[in-house]
Amino acid sequence: MAKRIVLADPRGFCAGVDRAILTVRTILKGSHVAPGSDLPPVYVRRQIVHNKHVVEDLASQGAVFVEELEEIPDGAAAAGVPVVFSAHGVSPAVKAEAKARGLNVVDATCPLVAKVHREVLRFARSGYEIVYIGHKGHDEAVGVVGEAPEHVHLIEHERDVEGLDFTPGTKLVLLSQTTLSVDETAGTIAALKARFPWIEMPPSSDICYATSNRQAAVKLVAERSGCVVIVGSANSSNSVRLVEVAQEGLGERGRAHRVDDAGDLDPAWFEGVEAVGVSSGASVPEEYVDGVIAALRERGYTDVESVETTKETMHFVLPAELRRR
Ligand code: F3S
Repeated sequence: MAKRIVLADPRGFCAGVDRAILTVRTILKGSHVAPGSDLPPVYVRRQIVHNKHVVEDLASQGAVFVEELEEIPDGAAAAGVPVVFSAHGVSPAVKAEAKARGLNVVDATCPLVAKVHREVLRFARSGYEIVYIGHKGHDEAVGVVGEAPEHVHLIEHERDVEGLDFTPGTKLVLLSQTTLSVDETAGTIAALKARFPWIEMPPSSDICYATSNRQAAVKLVAERSGCVVIVGSANSSNSVRLVEVAQEGLGERGRAHRVDDAGDLDPAWFEGVEAVGVSSGASVPEEYVDGVIAALRERGYTDVESVETTKETMHFVLPAELRRR
């Protein structure tokens, strides 16, 4: 049997990433920087999506990425230079700072992240304490916790549940980051229900459709492979979760690896491997998957078998600030 590639479908761009990148591209396309101005056509707070190639590409077209709003010069507000908030969302404190400075904000927060922000606000106002499963320091978690810091209790793992303490009668609800591992989160939820049986679940799962779909597909891919390559950046939560899910599926049979592009592939990974699984995180342009496939073909993996678990049709319109233009 020929050596083969087992390709996960769905993989790559989700609707939220697509919208965030298109937001910056649309601004770049329509921008008219005044001659002699030393201001850029657009500022972006943090990485628009967690992928180094996407960020480098937009930066090469003139977008300036900043970590904090304070890096943006005062002249930007008067000149109306757009400031884009990334797909991961921001805390109310960042929005307030932008407003106080009169910045021209275009909010590219993914609508599914914005939904969790609204849930935090709604439950906090109704007197709930919120247990939030997320990754400390991740942009999305920082933004969500910032909605009601005194009422949100962030935990990362099942083992963190024992550190929580709520008296019976405390109104409790569970919310989570959109890009968690579905399986790992199920374990944490079970531990929370055992410890606090009255805890309420969110109206609908906060783990987004793209995260669940990519994990379901990579699980099947791992079952049919001897090694799995996930294309995605190290700071991409959903890409790192895909590596974990693939490793779980492979078990002792092989290893799952993360690469930013074909240049990161190590020939030693493929020794004696008949089938290599391939997928990519939600922030990864397809051309980098194509590059990995081409490199694998050169190594003799000439057959490509696609494992399709579902068809995605989700689409988000551009942020309101752009639609009004
Ligand atoms: Fe949004 Fe999920 Fe993508 S939350 S940005 S659709 S990974």
